[in-house]
Amino acid sequence: MTELTPEQHRLLLSCAETHGTPTYVYFEGTIVRQIQTLKKHLSGLPLRLLYAMKANHSLPVMQTMLREGLGIDAVSPAELMYALKVGFPVDRVLFSANNMTDGEMHFATGRGVMLNVGELSRLEAFGKAYPGSDVCVRLNGQVGAGHHEHVITAGDRSKFGIPVEHVEEIHAIAAKYSLTIVGLHQHIGSGIMDTKTLWQAISVILDASTSFKDLRFINVGGGLGIAYRPDEQDLDMSSFDDLIVEPLKAFIDQHPSEDLSIWFEPGRFFTAQCGVLLARVNTVKEGTVRTFAGTDSGMNHLVRPAMYGSYHHVLNLSNPDGKHKTYDVVGNICESSDFFAKDRQVAELREGDIIGVLDAGAYGMSMTTTYNMRSEPAEVWIDADGSQCLVRPRRTVEEMVAHEMRQA
Ligand SMILES: Cc1ncc(COP(=O)(O)O)c(C=O)c1O
Repeated sequence: MTELTPEQHRLLLSCAETHGTPTYVYFEGTIVRQIQTLKKHLSGLPLRLLYAMKANHSLPVMQTMLREGLGIDAVSPAELMYALKVGFPVDRVLFSANNMTDGEMHFATGRGVMLNVGELSRLEAFGKAYPGSDVCVRLNGQVGAGHHEHVITAGDRSKFGIPVEHVEEIHAIAAKYSLTIVGLHQHIGSGIMDTKTLWQAISVILDASTSFKDLRFINVGGGLGIAYRPDEQDLDMSSFDDLIVEPLKAFIDQHPSEDLSIWFEPGRFFTAQCGVLLARVNTVKEGTVRTFAGTDSGMNHLVRPAMYGSYHHVLNLSNPDGKHKTYDVVGNICESSDFFAKDRQVAELREGDIIGVLDAGAYGMSMTTTYNMRSEPAEVWIDADGSQCLVRPRRTVEEMVAHEMRQA
């Protein structure tokens, strides 16, 4: 997304005025649109959609997912407990912690949540503790993909999942403890625009699935990408239909079990485009070769540019018709990797202007830190009819200090 509707523009400026900056703003309408798009394309399949809450676990985001009938991919005890408290039924939550501890295993199992196990030793430990149970295993089919090497989660250098070559060992452990493998799972990476590679990975799991006789679901993960740059195309949904949905339907049609369903668990596809990070330009500084626009936010609030070199479109909301000039749009954190955009054309930025960093609804707030002892941003929710609600205030300096002094 590189443009806003006039209504979104107006609402964002009103949020900045009411709640100050830095502030994440989420538009409910965009999330619902994305969910409905995916549901429409997958409509002919026996389907369950989970939401990978690591992308954005803000309460109204979670409540929207619940209302839309989604389940949850949870990867830590706190994610799991929070999802249950929000109201997700236990049988719609899958617990996919990697390098799971005994304590985490008991935590999830004790609450009736199914484990998604990515290590043979954990499967063994689970079998010993809970013989005769149902379980899901995460396979690594050795095909990975993603927008950056740090987000590729399959392949022979990836820590995730049990290599598909070890299927016999899975069967042996399952037989030893009378475990029923009811689900197979994979997640090959994030920000995938290449449906061919995604299908290649899915087909490895489908092939492996033939030796699992009691499967109730095959979870093909998340990873669906979105366009961040103006010159990028959205995920090609017609190729998604042709290369993924139709072959999945054919697989299901000829599968002997009537009860088998296909699960997807996106994060980014549902939430990335709903979020805008608002920041205020505090300083405009002419360097010798660059003009720096320094803001009151930074890499502590949106780490994707620093971590992956990710592109996020930056708009000057206060001066949208200003003459375009070239800037490094930077934060207030003491790191040189602290930037939102480098060498970027933006409508003239003046001190006091409000900028919007777009497509920041996934892996933005959920990856926020308080580095340099600066508070997390505030969060504002804008529901489908345009009313806004502050869902998380920024912490004051006093609160930050009291937290350190354990007086909070
Ligand atoms: C197991 C698992 N499932 C789903 C996702 C969601 O990925 P995405 O946001 O790219 O859809 C992730 C992201 O890391 C993941 O680790």
